[in-house]
Amino acid sequence: MSRSGSLNVAVVGATGAVGGVLLRVLEERGFPVGRLIPLASARSAGTRVAFAGDCLPVGALEPRAFEGVDVVFFAATGELSREWAPEAAARGALVIDKSGTWRMQADVPLVVPEVNGACLRGASRGIVASPNCTTVGVVMALEPLRRAAGLASVVATTFQAASGAGQAGADELREQLAAGGVAPAPRVFAAPLAHNVVPLCETLGASGESSEERKLREETRKILSAPRLAISTLCTRVPVAVGHSAGLLVETERPLDADGARQALAGFPGVELLDDARGLPTPLGVAGRDVVQVGRVRCEPEGRRLWLWQVSDNLRKGAATNAVQIAEAARAAGML
Ligand SMILES: NC(=O)c1ccc[n+]([C@@H]2O[C@H](COP(=O)([O-])OP(=O)(O)OC[C@H]3O[C@@H](n4cnc5c(N)ncnc54)[C@H](OP(=O)(O)O)[C@@H]3O)[C@@H](O)[C@H]2O)c1
Repeated sequence: MSRSGSLNVAVVGATGAVGGVLLRVLEERGFPVGRLIPLASARSAGTRVAFAGDCLPVGALEPRAFEGVDVVFFAATGELSREWAPEAAARGALVIDKSGTWRMQADVPLVVPEVNGACLRGASRGIVASPNCTTVGVVMALEPLRRAAGLASVVATTFQAASGAGQAGADELREQLAAGGVAPAPRVFAAPLAHNVVPLCETLGASGESSEERKLREETRKILSAPRLAISTLCTRVPVAVGHSAGLLVETERPLDADGARQALAGFPGVELLDDARGLPTPLGVAGRDVVQVGRVRCEPEGRRLWLWQVSDNLRKGAATNAVQIAEAARAAGML
């Protein structure tokens, strides 16, 4: 850290969908960046990224890139995080990782600051993980209900945007829409996405559950410190550019009616309740914003389960903003 209190920050994956938004969010939130080091693959050699009025050259990933760096955001591939995050941490940087590599490691905190920010203290390896883009929005909607009445079970069905699969996913949807939905053939998604709904995100496992469904289930349990929470997940991809949606069917441990749920949600930091004549939570309505919107709150006609609908910008609160909030919380806790 410099004497002025500013921090040297490296962003691995600075040319990607999340990395690009991360640079904007650092700027917007006035994170005290001393030196900004954008890193990417050899493909990006010679390119530049804009940051704070400068046009910075993108560097290659090599050990000396982390010299004198206080915090490294990893927003690239899981393999890169596996290989390079320990290297960056060994050189004294705090690593904030956006990939799935470290999330379920017992000695790596998996953090959504509004929900479990206190876990940051457990970052004994110098690595903190930020959850999957779908998980962030889901736990932001579940935590107020958990605090109000406990959670007995959750059924989560997601409707995920193309950009959740990175720049290549966003490009594939745009190209298919431009071509009238018939071409080019899918490369990123399991079926054509334009004018369609694809009931598979990422890869199918032997049990029939997809890797995305498994991540949503396991990460939700870890963040909510509820290892035995009954949670069932179905993840789908929809032809939306930005913004993941989830329909949540929640059974609470203690009685909680729709009004009580609305009250709990409305009072939770980072959640915006939109459950009246003002409108409906939609991906378009939340794209470019950091809030998690929740609406359509209602009790099942019989029983005590609640339905709600949740949307959030997968590139911002689902990824970049959450990562920057982790860095802010680490700084406030004296870890940076
Ligand atoms: N998209 C989302 O909504 C979202 C949300 C939460 C978490 N995540 C996670 O965030 C990470 C980044 O996702 P993304 O959507 O931004 O992906 P992306 O658009 O495909 O960007 C990937 C980035 O990684 C860089 N990269 C790839 N191979 C590299 C290598 N060998 N060496 C150095 N840099 C390399 C790319 O650089 P080049 O440009 O040089 O290829 C690019 O900057 C992933 O782990 C993803 O799972 C994504």
